[in-house]
Amino acid sequence: MTIQQSLFCVITIESVKKLGLEKSDSNLAILLDMFMQEVLSIEIQREIISSIGRQKNNDKIYDFLSKEAFNNHYMEVIYQMFRTCLYKSKEDMRFADLRDRILKHYNNEVMQKMLEYHSFRKEKKRDLKSQRQILKPSLLIGDNRITLNKIQEQQVQLIFTSPPYYNARLYSDYRSYSDYLDSMKDTLRQCHRILENGRFILINVSPVITKRAGREFESIRYPIHFDFHNILCESGFYFIDEIIWIKPEYSVPNRIAGYLQTKKPLSYKPNCVTESIMVYRKNASFLLDKNIKDYDKNLKNDEQIDSTNCWYISPKSDKNHPAVFPEELCQKVLKYYSFEGDVVCDPFAGSGTFGRVANAMNRIPLLCEQNLEYAEKLKQGGFNEI
Ligand SMILES: C[S@@+](CC[C@H](N)C(=O)[O-])C[C@H]1O[C@@H](n2cnc3c(N)ncnc32)[C@H](O)[C@@H]1O
Repeated sequence: MTIQQSLFCVITIESVKKLGLEKSDSNLAILLDMFMQEVLSIEIQREIISSIGRQKNNDKIYDFLSKEAFNNHYMEVIYQMFRTCLYKSKEDMRFADLRDRILKHYNNEVMQKMLEYHSFRKEKKRDLKSQRQILKPSLLIGDNRITLNKIQEQQVQLIFTSPPYYNARLYSDYRSYSDYLDSMKDTLRQCHRILENGRFILINVSPVITKRAGREFESIRYPIHFDFHNILCESGFYFIDEIIWIKPEYSVPNRIAGYLQTKKPLSYKPNCVTESIMVYRKNASFLLDKNIKDYDKNLKNDEQIDSTNCWYISPKSDKNHPAVFPEELCQKVLKYYSFEGDVVCDPFAGSGTFGRVANAMNRIPLLCEQNLEYAEKLKQGGFNEI
């Protein structure tokens, strides 16, 4: 195909791919020319850049990229140019320099991640199975920010917990909300250290309200889960999903009664039937497939699945602890986010529901609890203090 002919024919993904497969100066010239045409879809533009990247004439490719990467294109198109630089940088240092200039210019998180993944491609994932420290149900008694120092890094495959909800219950009393968040962040940093790279942490939180200091004062409502997003990210995790735990209306505190009496706009306070299960992954420079490949390929879950992010589960009450997990919630979390044999941790264990369910599902639980009464009961329940 000559340049003139190429301009008259309809450009398709297939025709562009074909030009990329044969390496020649004439094909490169056609591709460079095609890219300059006015109306091209993003997909075609990306394919053209990919085919340009397959060509051999690095001088021309470098000239093209160093001009176009700083022109006004959609970010998806720029990502493709960046990708080409990543691959070409192995054979020609000019592309490494251009890669760094593009990264600096856009200061973009997708490109940052592309660079990390690309650099990691040749590295082997560490074999952690042979260095396992926790082989039976275990318990750390005391403040998890300190006791977790006993655990070596990357020993745990899943963390699920329900932290204290600021000052909503007797077992927590923080000087201020900011003190509370600082303390949670210290725990999250420990969680990050002990969790295997690329594995999940799930946090169950929801907004809380603190009591009014007197009739003349307003109560304060804290959207804890919004703030947890920030401290999770600052601690080295990134957002994956939010599961909404939905409870029956009869089981939650009645907030709507006042409105029902007056029906006055602005006094509306709905009954809150949901709690958040925040699903985050520990930063890793590899895809989740690499974590899954660590296990026997025949290990699969049963047929029954929850196909949406809304899980309908009744809450549970307990005579010994004011805020226990329902077993069903723990079962679902364990089923979807861990394999049999995994070490799974609840750093705010309370009555230890998660640990007991984990044990029954052939996982190895590691619990942390600072309240001595709860800890004693956990010890009696078969958790070994370490
Ligand atoms: C919301 S409750 C967890 C209840 C638990 N999900 C259950 O099913 O029983 C939080 C627990 O964390 C404990 N806790 C609070 N701060 C802690 C800390 N820094 N280290 C260890 N445990 C802590 C409290 O004593 C409380 O029992």
